[in-house]
Amino acid sequence: MLKSLSRVKPVEPAAHVDAGEPVEGSLEGEASLKRTLTAKHLILLGIGAVIGAGIFVLTGQAAANHAGPAVMLSFVLAGFACALAGLCYAEFAAMLPVSGSAYSYSYATLGEGVAWFIGWCLVLEYLFASSSVAVGWSAYLISFITTTLHLPFPAALAQAPLAWRDGGFHPSGGIIDLPAVLIVVAVSALLYRGVTQSALANAIVVAIKITVICLFIAFGAMHIDVANWTPFIPENNGTVGEFGWSGVFRAASIVFFAYIGFDAVSTAAGEAKNPQRDMPIGILGSLALCTLVYIVVCAVLTGMTSYTLLGTAKPVATALESYPSLAWLKTAVEIGAIAGLSSVVLVMLMGQSRVSYSMARDGLIPPLLGKVHPKHRTPYVSTVIVGVLAAALAGLVPLNVLGELVSMGTLLAFATVCIGVLVLRFTRPELPRPFRVPAFLLICPLGALTCMFLFFQAFQEHWKVFVGWTVLGLLIYFGYGIRHSRLAGKA
Ligand code: ALA
Repeated sequence: MLKSLSRVKPVEPAAHVDAGEPVEGSLEGEASLKRTLTAKHLILLGIGAVIGAGIFVLTGQAAANHAGPAVMLSFVLAGFACALAGLCYAEFAAMLPVSGSAYSYSYATLGEGVAWFIGWCLVLEYLFASSSVAVGWSAYLISFITTTLHLPFPAALAQAPLAWRDGGFHPSGGIIDLPAVLIVVAVSALLYRGVTQSALANAIVVAIKITVICLFIAFGAMHIDVANWTPFIPENNGTVGEFGWSGVFRAASIVFFAYIGFDAVSTAAGEAKNPQRDMPIGILGSLALCTLVYIVVCAVLTGMTSYTLLGTAKPVATALESYPSLAWLKTAVEIGAIAGLSSVVLVMLMGQSRVSYSMARDGLIPPLLGKVHPKHRTPYVSTVIVGVLAAALAGLVPLNVLGELVSMGTLLAFATVCIGVLVLRFTRPELPRPFRVPAFLLICPLGALTCMFLFFQAFQEHWKVFVGWTVLGLLIYFGYGIRHSRLAGKA
């Protein structure tokens, strides 16, 4: 069994792949994914996946309950962890331009057992993030319909049948979160149709959300009262994680969610025209832009309004409510958030379908999920199955408990990628690396440690759910994957 867990998928990167070349795992005569995405598309995909519920929803709670104005520092800390991981992702994605992202990188370096575990963590990241962001999208849409447009919306169709409160499930009075289901279905249909169409829709949405955020920064900055930034780090109130430095760290593990998604760019490596050059640009470019945007938005937000008032589900709109002259901007922010969250759903669903596609190609999940549509050249079975699962989760399950679980899965994937880069530098030093992590002996371990540090901030509180998820993954692997792996019998 140890042999199976440690079998490694041989790394055989093409010296150079280019538009039109098939991606890994495709067999002769069989349709393969299509290489059409450019560096610009990839940066936009990154921004599309990253800027969403994190900044539009979580920032306010992180400031109000944990860090105060120092939520800016929490964003710097989380951004630092992501930058280190981002460099490692860039090295891997340029060297191994395949669709499986962290899953494929671990398979090539740390063995099948770790790869399966990371693939399973990526389900937490992509599938659950897409569903929970779809629920956030639905809340923004319904609030826009009822409070801004003053139209009715049936409450029974606005939330899942059960709600999670006080450590247990309770009937919510709802039947289904219909808008959340509809956005997942619409986005899945687009992804089924083609990656070029999806990238175009994403680009339009990203343009809307960036415009709205720039307007917020420009007009909000005129209303900053520097007194709101004092005390910058409010004194700890006696509970670990509530203000003081422990609060800044706790908030960093919460706002880490806001950065999730830049890694999804690497799942498009199999569809990039020139991945060796463009993957590092897409991953690091989108990450740098988003980090800058986040820190400035936090500064404006906590400067406009006392952090104590920001603990709402719509902190950006809340900050604007105190300024009647900016009422128009509040409406624009709501539209921006609705647009912004939809692109997060899009790129996350794309990421999940590509990871499932890769795992199916490797035999760890049923091969049907690895099928490519003969005309659209998309992993259509995987797209449909992921879409159905995500729609069911979004419509029927209370997902408010899952945000931190998503971050935990992602942080483990990031740490593994950092370790994987380090391992491969020693085991396969001769492989061509179009992008190299600078000072890798420092950056890789530091990246892994920072991600693990943030992971444990959340693990202390949510370890039971995380362990439960891991056990479920192990059951599936030992029940199916270990025997059906394409490497079975070759170890
Ligand atoms: N980073 C994404 C968001 O904040 C997941 O919505």
